[in-house]
Amino acid sequence: MSEASHQVTSNPDGRVAPVAAEQTLLAALLAAGIPITHACGGKARCSTCRVRVEDGIEALCPRTDDESEMAEKLHFDDATRLACRARVRGDATVRRLVLDDCDAALVACHGPDAIAGASGREEVVAILFSDVAGFTPLSESLPPYDVIHLLNRWFLQAGEDVDAAGGHIDNYMGDGLLAVFRGAACGLSAVRAGLAMLKTADRVSEYTQQLYDRPFGVRVGVHVGCVVIGDLGAAHNRRETVIGDAVNTASRIEAANKEAGTRLLVSESVMEQVRDHVETGCTHDLALKGKTGTFRLQEITGLL
Ligand code: FES
Repeated sequence: MSEASHQVTSNPDGRVAPVAAEQTLLAALLAAGIPITHACGGKARCSTCRVRVEDGIEALCPRTDDESEMAEKLHFDDATRLACRARVRGDATVRRLVLDDCDAALVACHGPDAIAGASGREEVVAILFSDVAGFTPLSESLPPYDVIHLLNRWFLQAGEDVDAAGGHIDNYMGDGLLAVFRGAACGLSAVRAGLAMLKTADRVSEYTQQLYDRPFGVRVGVHVGCVVIGDLGAAHNRRETVIGDAVNTASRIEAANKEAGTRLLVSESVMEQVRDHVETGCTHDLALKGKTGTFRLQEITGLL
């Protein structure tokens, strides 16, 4: 760091950080070993590095465009700044978001000098959601051990379909699963997996008909969008997962199969990737729960 020209006092503990000319508040606080959350790694893509400027607001540079965007979205007042965007041109006093031991421990997980190390990274991926159609009546009609056996049998084979298409299962939620596919052709990989899973479900259905005199079916939704891939959980139990609106959208698309009477629906962002490679069924313009407007969803019935 070049020679310090100013200093920032950081409350609630009154610790002082020297600041080099035009250094950001975040860089100055981290360099001084003062814990401050910075979940996106200093890219103005979160709000966790926010501080309240208690004194010397004129010592901070005006908001950048990306900071202004975040400030507008979260209704910041003028004294609330993103530490990763606020460059310091004089002495100031701020109050940071890191207030308790829990926040400090979170920061410690990433290391005090990990300014470039976000607690996640953004990436465009394909997300596949599936769940078992009519799971509640099916599970109510079977002993719990049989339900576990059946689900494990399904998840084992569905997992093989996901693996074979180049994806990985990110999460299980009851009878549902969430799989993630990466790379330039992630949408096509996810659709391949989805179609394979439908065939697998048909085979599982023969099994359940034989054993329980009941059919088995699944619904699949696929969406391509930007997510944050990050580690989630306590320090001894962390694992990578995906978070973001694109995940919710994929889940809603999967659920829309019920209304559309389909088994595999994909969004337009998926169709942009797979249009020349798939056989399509009906197109549905549907409202998705929790989303505004209608979404054009395409049924996919096979590969060309
Ligand atoms: S660290 Fe995410 S906005 Fe500053």
